[in-house]
Amino acid sequence: MKEITHTCHYKLYAYEELCETDRQLVDAAKQATQGSYAPYSEFHVGAAALLADGAIVSGSNQENAAYPSGLCAERTTLFYANAAHPNQAIKALAVAAYTNGKFTNIPVPPCGACRQVMLEVEQRYHQPIRILLYGTEGIYVVEGGIGELLPLTFDASFLK
Ligand code: THU
Repeated sequence: MKEITHTCHYKLYAYEELCETDRQLVDAAKQATQGSYAPYSEFHVGAAALLADGAIVSGSNQENAAYPSGLCAERTTLFYANAAHPNQAIKALAVAAYTNGKFTNIPVPPCGACRQVMLEVEQRYHQPIRILLYGTEGIYVVEGGIGELLPLTFDASFLK
């Protein structure tokens, strides 16, 4: 028997410690929470993607009375970015969540389905995505791409 351990590396930044580009991306994710349609959860999530050409594309969660028909902010944003800018790799993705009249103090990590979509976006463009998760008490920055958050991945290589 061999024991195998996966570790997850991320950094905790204060907003003031972020570089200008990262601050802009986080600000865009915060702003995007305002476009959220979340009448059921009242949990308003915004995401912003930094494209290879420097453009920032943002999106938010969109809920539906038939609950599973809704979509998270991360996937809304990634699918929109890929649909509108299919030739642009995604370099970074920032996420912020607003509920009960304020942004969450602890960063909201992406759900499993969004992690799976991030994996395929990374593979499509051969480019790891830096992930910035905003909380009022600090920002988690995952430098190593989605592999840090999604070990033992299922991907297209299994289908060949
Ligand atoms: N949600 C996101 O948009 N992203 C996350 O990372 C976590 C959850 C949304 C889905 C749903 O509209 C609401 O937050 C409550 O789960």
